[in-house]
Amino acid sequence: MRPPLEDRVVVISGVGPGLGRGLALRCAAAGADVVLAARTEARLAEVAEEITGLGRRATAVPTDVTDEASCERLVETALNVHGRVDGLVNNAFSIPPLTDLCEADQDAIRAAFEVNVLAALRLTRLFAADLADGAGSVVMINSAVLRHSRRTFGAYKMSKAALLALAQSLSTELGPRGVRVNTVAPGYIWADSLKWYFDHLARERGVPPRQVYDETAATIDLRRLPEPDEIADAVVFLLSPLARAVTGQCLDVNGGEYHH
Ligand SMILES: NC(=O)c1ccc[n+]([C@@H]2O[C@H](COP(=O)([O-])OP(=O)(O)OC[C@H]3O[C@@H](n4cnc5c(N)ncnc54)[C@H](OP(=O)(O)O)[C@@H]3O)[C@@H](O)[C@H]2O)c1
Repeated sequence: MRPPLEDRVVVISGVGPGLGRGLALRCAAAGADVVLAARTEARLAEVAEEITGLGRRATAVPTDVTDEASCERLVETALNVHGRVDGLVNNAFSIPPLTDLCEADQDAIRAAFEVNVLAALRLTRLFAADLADGAGSVVMINSAVLRHSRRTFGAYKMSKAALLALAQSLSTELGPRGVRVNTVAPGYIWADSLKWYFDHLARERGVPPRQVYDETAATIDLRRLPEPDEIADAVVFLLSPLARAVTGQCLDVNGGEYHH
């Protein structure tokens, strides 16, 4: 079988050290050339080098997804360098204040909406015509926060629920033009930020970090926490022709923590 993304061009927003990097590398391993967008130029350069090492082309474009002109430059560069765009992954995100909704600062909630919702709409609109040229695919990275209503997660849940609604409505709008729009909702992601947090919890409780991991894993069907590559592979599937009849859907990639 040919690599699922052979010779396709995928744009990824929010290439950070966790899932963003994993998405970029797994898309490249699946045969894609990758356009990397985030604000930190040094990180983009590092990930671009890793992609080149996999034998694919990488274009690093420092981008602020909340800025229209910056996003227009991203589109222009992607098309100038690669001549086409087949996939767009909206991964960039911002965590709003983790406080109860009745106390959360409204401006901070609004700022998170700018990144988590409106920026995903902005990028999808800007790439829509080119995606339509090649039966393209858009994937929104959501969160298992969709599946619970725990205290202090309200503002984050509001933004991710709006992102899900955005994906579904865009699927209806862009489907007739051949563009698919889907969502991947990870739960825990076993990467540096969670490792740091578990170490912190372990220190607070005076237990080994492995105990915090095992207690968390015990609440998950597969008894382990998914790694960035495992979530990225679900995104590769949705970007690829293997998912050519799948649109408007949300795929939860959480090891069975929540069933949906
Ligand atoms: N981490 C988790 O446990 C977890 C769990 C469930 C779902 N998720 C979802 O998975 C996705 C990735 O999360 P992650 O923690 O692994 O993060 P990541 O991919 O390591 O990094 C995301 C990157 O987004 C970029 N970003 C933020 N604001 C931006 C802006 N205005 N313009 C351009 N880029 C911007 C930041 O890079 P710059 O500062 O360089 O711009 C940041 O490094 C998010 O959508 C998140 O909601 C994460």
